[in-house]
Amino acid sequence: MEKFIIEKSSPLKGEITIDGAKNAVLPIIASTILTGEKCIIENAPFLKDVEIMLKILEVLGAKTSFCEKEKRIAIDCRKISNVPLPYELVKKLRASFLFAGPLLSRFGKVNIQMPGGCPIGIRPVDLHLKGFSMLGAKIKQEHGNIEIISQGVKGNNIYLDFPSVGATENIIMAAVLAEGETNISNCSVEPEIVDLAEFLNKMGAYIYGAGTDSIKIIGVPEVYGAVHSIIPDRIEAGTFMIGAVITKGDLIIKNIICDHLRPVIAKLKDMNVDVEENENSIRVHSENELINTDVKTLPFPGFPTDMQAQFMSLMAVTKGTGIINETIFENRFMHVGELNRMGADIKVESKSAIIKGVPKLTGTQVKATDLRAGAALILSALVAEGETEISDIYHIERGYCNIEEKIRKLGGKIKKTEE
Ligand code: UD1
Repeated sequence: MEKFIIEKSSPLKGEITIDGAKNAVLPIIASTILTGEKCIIENAPFLKDVEIMLKILEVLGAKTSFCEKEKRIAIDCRKISNVPLPYELVKKLRASFLFAGPLLSRFGKVNIQMPGGCPIGIRPVDLHLKGFSMLGAKIKQEHGNIEIISQGVKGNNIYLDFPSVGATENIIMAAVLAEGETNISNCSVEPEIVDLAEFLNKMGAYIYGAGTDSIKIIGVPEVYGAVHSIIPDRIEAGTFMIGAVITKGDLIIKNIICDHLRPVIAKLKDMNVDVEENENSIRVHSENELINTDVKTLPFPGFPTDMQAQFMSLMAVTKGTGIINETIFENRFMHVGELNRMGADIKVESKSAIIKGVPKLTGTQVKATDLRAGAALILSALVAEGETEISDIYHIERGYCNIEEKIRKLGGKIKKTEE
């Protein structure tokens, strides 16, 4: 079991370049199933989740390669067959369910188990399945096994009860090769949806309106190979922005799209942080005394739930009281107990966390309960007195590339050890 050992560090200073977005690359990998031609994905982050998605493709018969140095993935799905997806891989990440849409589109049949992923709530897939059945598929569910069968996917008008990111992606991918037109309303408007639609359109799909709450897909008989560069990871960028503030450092964060970070920038400014935006980079520093704030997680362009835990780390050491209201997931406060073990003063009442800023945290043994909770613990550990030991760091490595190396280069005292 690997662990991170982190000591109280000096302020993080210097420049950091953000990798491609995890949540954009995963659906794009799944969508390569739609064509028998070779696809190239550039600016790809070298992450555990990416490795697992590629392994699943290989089990289906695809040829894949990942050049870490060039951040480039090549995928050839010419010879894939529609075997049941391997549960030992599917259970490792929620995004494995994103294979359902493209498999349904290409083969008319999918056999998949309920996916795994971060333990942050029940996370059903009913909206995905509702979308597939609106496209004409029949769904059979038994003991966690899901069979989706269609005699030819047919376009339809689909309304989503909630703008689910994954359901929007799966329905788009299922509709690309459908007969006729599909309209999805109340769909997700996250930047990762726009990236997926751009990739699919490069493949020859006809998708209009990505980035708005109504998307139209005009089905085509086939799509082709394409080359695409992944958008920067707004959550990795946001995490380093907090890293700069919490350590009272000064960071220039490169390869970002400021418009994807609006709510994070706005909340930091509310707290009295200095944020300077440039074309593809942002400088975050603050000599000012910070003031606590309130945060409510919402679908994009609202404050991202994936930044909630990291923001809580900052609020935990900021003067005054702040409240975080989590509206996306029903069980995303597992990090509260761990932060309190480090001396934070946080109480959870239903969907809200009430955070009373404390003057200092103290290092101890804590556990990364999920990906972003793990990132929050790293941030807190950088300012906690003494040494913090974080276990279960495999969660963190699912979504951050070489995080310890990046933090070390900025002056953070972090090392990885094996027990
Ligand atoms: C994606 C992101 C994840 C992020 C989340 C919300 C990826 C790989 N993951 O997850 O990092 O935290 O968006 O921004 O892109 N829901 C249902 N039924 C469904 C689908 C979802 O009830 O069929 C619920 C979920 O339980 C959750 C909420 O809708 O409470 C949001 O989920 P969704 O937007 O689908 O998130 P994911 O696509 O799983």
